[in-house]
Amino acid sequence: MTPLPVFHDRDCDLSIIRGKRVAVIGYGSQGRTHALNLRDSGVADIVVGLKAGSKTRAVAEADGFEVMTAGEATVGADVVAIMVSDEAHRDLWADEIEPAIKPGAALIFAHGLSVRFGLVQPRADLDVILASPKGIGPRIRDLYEEGQGVFCLFGVHQDASGKAHALGLSYTAALGCGRKGIIETTFAAECESDLFGEQVVLCGGVKDLVDGAFTKLVEAGYPPEVAWFECFYELKLVTDLMFEKGIAGAFGRISNTAEYGAYLTGPRVLGEASKAAMDEVLAEVRSGAFVRTLMADYDAGSPDLLARRKALGERPIEAVGRHLAEVAGRFKE
Ligand SMILES: NC(=O)c1ccc[n+]([C@@H]2O[C@H](COP(=O)([O-])OP(=O)(O)OC[C@H]3O[C@@H](n4cnc5c(N)ncnc54)[C@H](OP(=O)(O)O)[C@@H]3O)[C@@H](O)[C@H]2O)c1
Repeated sequence: MTPLPVFHDRDCDLSIIRGKRVAVIGYGSQGRTHALNLRDSGVADIVVGLKAGSKTRAVAEADGFEVMTAGEATVGADVVAIMVSDEAHRDLWADEIEPAIKPGAALIFAHGLSVRFGLVQPRADLDVILASPKGIGPRIRDLYEEGQGVFCLFGVHQDASGKAHALGLSYTAALGCGRKGIIETTFAAECESDLFGEQVVLCGGVKDLVDGAFTKLVEAGYPPEVAWFECFYELKLVTDLMFEKGIAGAFGRISNTAEYGAYLTGPRVLGEASKAAMDEVLAEVRSGAFVRTLMADYDAGSPDLLARRKALGERPIEAVGRHLAEVAGRFKE
């Protein structure tokens, strides 16, 4: 396979974004980081768009930004960065941004979902750019302040101006990503692999693997605290090591017992049934079935999301975590 194109600061012209008026819509995990990093990279004309009663409004104002509604922020902006949660993109676009965005402006997304699945269908005169830094917002900000950056997935969905590529590189470099690597891909590749990865591995898979293994040990009579350490707490130690050294590198640093057991058991835990489930998940992601389910729940007021969130907080493994945090707290008393 041909490696994807990678860009660094030397490939990006920061003066492009410095000369633009940028509206950052949403001031949460990504929005705040984008606004602050852009400003510190020399973008002088930034406004923030939020709902009237937004709880993040005070944060944006304390950071020194002028805050207005999304529609007001969009008027006159050269670049509109949509940094609100994905389920809100459809209505925000239709109600506030599409009526206000000026001809020839650029739209920036941190995740390809709403464009890939047609929740947002940008007009033909607009540039449409993906700027998806690979990190949680506050961490991206911390690294930026330390003079470092995170990788960024970057893509151009629509190049109405003929300048979208250079503008996108300039924007992602202003986030600090040119210090690490701006990797060019497509909205579809970023979005579909992101949904698959978070459902199968990062969030869905890990949650059920950890909780399922913890529950199995407790049901077999092992003390919950011991099960918590072995199935949950040490996960961070091992994944930190994998992150730093790669999977094989980490395996060279764990005990032979752990390594050999992993070779024998990993393929049994991830058997044919799990692989078939991965095929199903990927098909649901690609067909749009997952996004339709997501939006149906959102349109109903998110009852399923909220019920599942509540149930997760009540799992026994959470109580053990709280108990051990309280035990650790006693040391400080
Ligand atoms: N979290 C991450 O680190 C991460 C990583 C990569 C990509 N992304 C992508 O980045 C985008 C933003 O996600 P996020 O996690 O940063 O969101 P978030 O932390 O939940 O913040 C959302 C922000 O949008 C505001 N908002 C919500 N609905 C709005 C509306 N209709 N009009 C104006 N403002 C509205 C919220 O304000 P109030 O709630 O205060 O009103 C809040 O300031 C998404 O596309 C996401 O997939 C996120």
